[in-house]
Amino acid sequence: MSRVFSGVQPTGNLHLGNYLGAIRHFVPLQDSHDCIYCVVDLHAITQWQDPAELRANTREVTAAYLAAGIDPKRAIIFNQSQVPEHSELAWIFNCVARLGWLNRMTQFKDKAGKDREKASAGLYVYPNLMAADILVYKATHVPVGEDQKQHLELTRDIAQKFNHDFGVEFFPLIEPLIMGDATRVMSLRDGAKKMSKSDPSDMSRITMTDDDDALAKKIRKAKTDPEPLPGPEVLDAAGKVADEARKARPEAYNLLGIYGALAEKELSTVLTEMEGQPFSSFKQQLADLAIATLGPIGGEMKRLMADPGAVDAVLRDGAERARERAGPILKECQDIVGFLRP
Ligand code: AMP
Ligand code: TRP
Repeated sequence: MSRVFSGVQPTGNLHLGNYLGAIRHFVPLQDSHDCIYCVVDLHAITQWQDPAELRANTREVTAAYLAAGIDPKRAIIFNQSQVPEHSELAWIFNCVARLGWLNRMTQFKDKAGKDREKASAGLYVYPNLMAADILVYKATHVPVGEDQKQHLELTRDIAQKFNHDFGVEFFPLIEPLIMGDATRVMSLRDGAKKMSKSDPSDMSRITMTDDDDALAKKIRKAKTDPEPLPGPEVLDAAGKVADEARKARPEAYNLLGIYGALAEKELSTVLTEMEGQPFSSFKQQLADLAIATLGPIGGEMKRLMADPGAVDAVLRDGAERARERAGPILKECQDIVGFLRP
């Protein structure tokens, strides 16, 4: 059975993009794969995190995994810092990856901003740790949102260079799983910007714990344009919205994409149903759908977060099982590198 690995950072404000782009897809993979889902706290501290909030946010991501339907008996759920094998392999990868590769990473440029000199060294080598997360289990399939594609290509490059440098076929070449129509959910306030945890405006994102009133309000106030909704003629031969059409009405296509993902309908079906409607009636339908689909998940997350002992027990058990898998792979890798061990 091939192995799946993915991770989400405990940096707060878990949002609809995290759910539709990533977490939602983790659930069905449990039926067909050996699945490992991590709360990547080591990645989170590449930018400053308040310690008490980091603990709370680690439990929040764990609660989101559980509330979305990941079964902690079948899949492994744990937080990264409890499995030191990740950091140990990451060091080896720091010595495999080239500066030139890291210099091309767009997420580093975005997160470091203008004053790059002030970014942490951890933020720079972030993709090497991500490669270690995946390869310390020899996972082959990695479900993520579109923004992680470049990091997964780097993971392939690291695996390939390691194998080549040491003349082995040790690490597998991974397959990114970038699934569905909502691999890049945009801000509700600006259709050109990604929905993100760090946007200062809470109105820009739907969070996984928003209650019914917040969901309805955010959708009602989401930015739109004056035209009625388009029909299926905007789709090209491949069933996609052409880039030009999307650029002209980014907010409209973002909301239509969210509707399709939550309703589990093809975009062509959504466009046929909504064609010619004004935003006011579409938004009402979208709010009702969001309340029906996300409401129960948010409610379950809140219930779980009220019982931190139970959440921590899931992480402890997961970490133990994760170490059983990672330990032997790391040892073999250390032998290949030439480290003497007792
Ligand atoms: P992060 O919050 O950066 O740890 O991201 C966790 C997962 O959510 C990753 O697989 C991301 O690719 C995905 N993700 C984050 N933001 C979005 C977004 N706006 N749309 C779709 N997927 C996203
Ligand atoms: N970098 C990812 C993000 O921000 C999170 C992550 C860390 C990850 N390690 C991973 C995702 C390994 C997939 C596999 O979204």
